[in-house]
Amino acid sequence: MDTARLICDRGRAIDTSGIRKVFQLAATLKDPINLSIGQPDFPVPDPIKRAAIEAIERDRNGYTASQGIPQLIERVNAELEKDLGWDTTSDAQGTLITSGTAGALMLLFLTLMGPGDEAIIPDPYFVMYPHLATIAGGNAVRCDTYPDFRMTAERVEPLLTERTKFVLFNSPNNPSGVVSPKDDCRELLELCRSRGVLLVSDEIYDEFTFSDGMTDVSAKDSAEPRCPSPARFDGAQDNVLVIRGFGKTYGCTGWRMGYASGPHPVVEAMQRIQGYSFVCAPSIAQWGALAAMEVDMVDTVSAYAARRDRVHARLREVTEVAYPQGAFYAFPKVPEPLGLTGTELVNRCIERNLLVIPGGAFSDRDTHIRLSFAAPEAKLETGLDILCELMSG
Ligand SMILES: Cc1ncc(COP(=O)(O)O)c(C=O)c1O
Repeated sequence: MDTARLICDRGRAIDTSGIRKVFQLAATLKDPINLSIGQPDFPVPDPIKRAAIEAIERDRNGYTASQGIPQLIERVNAELEKDLGWDTTSDAQGTLITSGTAGALMLLFLTLMGPGDEAIIPDPYFVMYPHLATIAGGNAVRCDTYPDFRMTAERVEPLLTERTKFVLFNSPNNPSGVVSPKDDCRELLELCRSRGVLLVSDEIYDEFTFSDGMTDVSAKDSAEPRCPSPARFDGAQDNVLVIRGFGKTYGCTGWRMGYASGPHPVVEAMQRIQGYSFVCAPSIAQWGALAAMEVDMVDTVSAYAARRDRVHARLREVTEVAYPQGAFYAFPKVPEPLGLTGTELVNRCIERNLLVIPGGAFSDRDTHIRLSFAAPEAKLETGLDILCELMSG
């Protein structure tokens, strides 16, 4: 049977992402210097592991409510009250535990985006965003954020149309690591509010913000420094859907844990789709996530800040690179005198056994590359030597 002919337009429209192509290549190289990986290189802290193991042993292996286990919802809501000042007792607000941050994003697109609808996404963007729009049958409108990678109200405003359903904001940003300042967050919220458009804030790296990016304070504990968020302004909970995750912060990306919280009608519709698709987030991982919320990762994140310093200092000697204040990526420009695209430079890196990702995997432009510093320090240093040599021409 010719099964290929059975695949519909949607199935055909999704191409293997630029990242997967590098992963496939990585599998064929012998001991590559792999700076392409988007997950942290530390083990899951013991109390979190124990909580998940205990959940298995205590036979908590069945379906949970599609919204999530009540204990985790309650704990997440307490966090939103403390951090963002939200009133989670309000009927206007809802929280949904999801299968990864990606699960929340998928439900969001399926819930809000119909054929012909638009969402504004940053460019460069997290690789899934445009594909999710394709799956949903709508259109991801790119907001060009080069060269500083800030998705400002000024840049978003001209892109709003009658068909815009939501603006998708991501800080700390993948692939650049850039953290948007508080004023940018406020202006974007005001713009979205004034135009009746939902502001979605993908905050998967919020806990993975370095101390110099923590320029705001939590709403109910002024001593605690936080990454600026459009969700932390008065009344934001009526206009902002916050999406957060556990995988990056606690090193458990494979557990597939995240959550979405915001206006009740949106979250409730997402929950209905979850009930007939994902069903619920993985039960044992929900218990692990509950324990994770009591674990302090500050020392781990600080150790990454030292790597960030090194990466930024080395790269800025040879090219233009935005200063990453969060996540574990840098997004340097391919120096113009080289006359190479991001993909061409990546091919040269691969010849030297170094894996990084071409900017074209995250953008309509192919002028940069993304390197991840979630790698052992000796490898990182060797990778930087190779990259700096190639970038110097
Ligand atoms: C900006 C951003 N959003 C969402 C995700 C998806 O994360 P998860 O593994 O929690 O689905 C990632 C993963 O790299 C990301 O970088």
